[in-house]
Amino acid sequence: TYVIAQPCVDLKDKACIDECPVDCIYEGNRSLYIHPDECVDCGACEPVCPVEAIYYEDDVPEQWKDYHAANVEFFSDLGSPGGASAIGPIDRDHPLIAALPPQNQ
Ligand code: F3S
Ligand code: F3S
Repeated sequence: TYVIAQPCVDLKDKACIDECPVDCIYEGNRSLYIHPDECVDCGACEPVCPVEAIYYEDDVPEQWKDYHAANVEFFSDLGSPGGASAIGPIDRDHPLIAALPPQNQ
């Protein structure tokens, strides 16, 4: 799977959403999250993010390695909705992201 890391927080450019062929990039309050089971590893989202927030799971920079688990755990109680556009924004964030001070201000 691919992972969205800290540069997305409080920015949410959303260019990635338009590129994803399987609509597996979901919106939280302060960040977007890639569904680990729905992502087909096409990689189309990665180059369009203007702040380089997106990485293949094995390539997440060391300082953001916890974002792999954060993206996975965001979906713990959601299961696999099968499409982000159908469920719309989700009114929460993973605790790792919720605890961050304001970013990208
Ligand atoms: Fe975030 Fe970059 Fe997408 S800032 S919303 S991961 S284009
Ligand atoms: Fe979609 Fe990016 Fe995965 S475009 S399929 S989230 S690699």
